[in-house]
Amino acid sequence: MAVLVTGGAGFIGSHTAVELLNSGRDIVIVDNFSNSKPKALDAIKKITGKDFKFYEINYLDREKLEKVFEENKIDAVLNFAGYKAVGESVKKPLEYYENNISGCLVLLETMRKYNVKKFVFSSSATVYGEPERIPLTEECKTGGTTNPYGTSKLFIEQILKDLYASDNSWDICILRYFNPVGAHESGLIGEEPQGVPNNLMPYVVRVASGELKELSVFGNDYDTPDGTGVRDYIHVVDLAKGHICALNKLDKEGSGLYIYNLGTGTGYSVLDMVKAFEQITGKKVPYKIAPRRAGDIATCYSDPTKAKEELGWTAEKGIKEMCEDSWNFIQKNKE
Ligand code: WQD
Repeated sequence: MAVLVTGGAGFIGSHTAVELLNSGRDIVIVDNFSNSKPKALDAIKKITGKDFKFYEINYLDREKLEKVFEENKIDAVLNFAGYKAVGESVKKPLEYYENNISGCLVLLETMRKYNVKKFVFSSSATVYGEPERIPLTEECKTGGTTNPYGTSKLFIEQILKDLYASDNSWDICILRYFNPVGAHESGLIGEEPQGVPNNLMPYVVRVASGELKELSVFGNDYDTPDGTGVRDYIHVVDLAKGHICALNKLDKEGSGLYIYNLGTGTGYSVLDMVKAFEQITGKKVPYKIAPRRAGDIATCYSDPTKAKEELGWTAEKGIKEMCEDSWNFIQKNKE
């Protein structure tokens, strides 16, 4: 039996593929390389010493997706095939809703056709919108999302809740990611956003490497200790391991719908991250204070207690590894 990993050549997908193989599971990856590169597949094999089947398809292509289920005994699906750039989603809402929502619907309908009911969904802390309280627990209200990316995640969460209510033989785990950063210690896989990075850490490492001139700090007048935005940065390997714990939970429980925050429970400001990066790597990160970015919130970090109690999962890597591994990856992958 194999775990189907959609978007398995991407940032979170490739790191999770490594942990799945390391935990002894067989996997099948589908990806269309819209936001990833084929070299990630070779890197997964090199890191783990294991092989797996790969299909270069768009998961929206129902006929090709069904072929994957015809040719492989799939017993669970992890869906990473989502577009995830907040700023881009504001400019391209139709593309985001089609890829993220319609793609997930095709995937779920195909799973149902082949009686595959175990599903782990990559959701996001953005579903909380403007947090009603901090730290965020899974009971906090969701909604009020400020961009199509977050709204697409919110809609899919609702689809999954309605699906489970209609047929509780489904076995679903919704994982709400906070801010994934870092890279595998090998430096063979990591975050390679297309074009100029939207997110903080990929931008910081490119300033440190000299590829970009300086960092724009989007606002220093928030109600936070140093006035800059506070987020819950989580190492991508910790995030990946959370998926193994989620799958183990689904295997154990047999059916249900579960929701977990995957974060560290610690918030760092933009300037905290810049200072830590400079201290850890010895590289300077020139920056300027710029106006706030539309859609940003002041503070967002998790209470990860529920995942610890119910999944036996806790983030283990700290800001030092996040900075070291991000820097190591870009050093080893300079074009
Ligand atoms: C972090 C902080 C910015 C860039 C993203 C996306 C989504 C989600 C979580 C998974 C903020 C500041 C940033 C820059 C800056 N991932 N910043 N200068 O917006 O919290 O959320 O990660 O679901 O991908 O929603 O992440 O890294 O863009 O911003 O000052 O050049 O860094 O204002 O305070 P964000 P981010």
